[in-house]
Order: sequence, then structure tokens, then C-alpha cells
Amino acid sequence: MLTIRKAILPQVEEMYELVNYYAEKGLMLPRSRSALCENIRDFVVIEIDGQIAGIGALHVLWNDLAELRTLAVRSGMERQGIGRRIVEFILKETKELGLQKVFTLTYQPGFFEKMGFKVIDKETMPHKVWTDCINCPQVS
Ligand SMILES: CC(C)(COP(=O)(O)OP(=O)(O)OC[C@H]1O[C@@H](n2cnc3c(N)ncnc32)[C@H](O)[C@@H]1OP(=O)(O)O)[C@@H](O)C(=O)NCCC(=O)NCCS
Repeated sequence: MLTIRKAILPQVEEMYELVNYYAEKGLMLPRSRSALCENIRDFVVIEIDGQIAGIGALHVLWNDLAELRTLAVRSGMERQGIGRRIVEFILKETKELGLQKVFTLTYQPGFFEKMGFKVIDKETMPHKVWTDCINCPQVS
């Protein structure tokens, strides 16, 4: 059985393992347990038979701008529409909040283009957006 809903604190450990599995491979930024707890209300989870199959977060930065971040589908469960379901859930949430713009910083532009995102020049984004880039080990 598949369910999609907002994350809850007892799921933090499983979320931590999922994110850091990909972080160790250099595919996404690591997140500490405390960062996951502090931002728990940003997160959406998809569960299949009680196990987390994917997660994603919406982090609001300003009254017209938010970041879709920390999107991860469990290894072995890719290409089954789980990432799409999470993005669609989050984009519905942005509309309910009255948000105008959503961006993401990603190594998977092809996936996000399929979700309707457009590639833009990062120089056009406000400096506040750069916090994660500055912390990214892959930026020289
Ligand atoms: C990237 C990721 C979230 C995609 O999730 P997914 O569940 O495999 O994607 P979906 O099955 O919902 O795919 C939706 C569409 O995007 C396509 N797609 C999936 N991954 C893609 C990729 N890496 N590049 C291009 N297209 C991709 C699918 O083929 C599908 O296309 P279709 O609608 O024409 O059939 C997942 O592979 C993942 O967690 N990767 C590791 C972590 C990561 O890189 N996260 C990105 C955030 S920085």
C-alpha cells in the first residue's frame, strides 16, 4: 500500500539513512539528524507497506520564493513514478501557500525538466539561495 503524507519525527532516522546514502555517493548534500528534525515540517514522505520509499522537502525562503530540496527515492525503487508523486505533492503545496516561484539546485536537471522546471542561470537567483552551494563539497 502506498501513502504520501507530511513526515513525522519518528521517521527521522529512516530519512537520515536515505539522504546520507546518496550524500556519500556525492549525489546530494548530507543532512544531519538535527537539521532533519528542525525542518521536519518541510518534508513529505512516500511510504510503501510502511517503509519510506522516497522523501522531498519544500523550504520557504521568502514570500514569493521556495526551494524544493532533499528529494530522494530509495535505491532500487527509481523510475516507478515515486519522484514525480513527491514533486507533484510539493508543487500542490506551493499553490496552497500562494507561492509564485519554486527552484531546485540539482545534479538531475533531466528529471526536473520532466516535472516542468526550466534551467536558469544561477547568477539570476538571490544571494540567499547560495547558502547550500557554498556548503557543497563539489563547488570549488
Ligand atoms: C532523481 C530521482 C529523485 C528521480 O526519482 P524517480 O522516482 O526515479 O523518478 P520518476 O520515476 O518519478 O520519473 C519521472 C520521469 O522522470 C524521468 N527521470 C527519472 N530520473 C531521471 C533522470 N535522472 N534524468 C532524466 N529523467 C529522469 C523518468 O523516466 C520519468 O519520465 P516519464 O514521465 O517520461 O516516464 C531519483 O532517481 C533519486 O532519488 N536519485 C538519487 C538522489 C538524487 O539525485 N536526487 C535529486 C535531488 S538533488
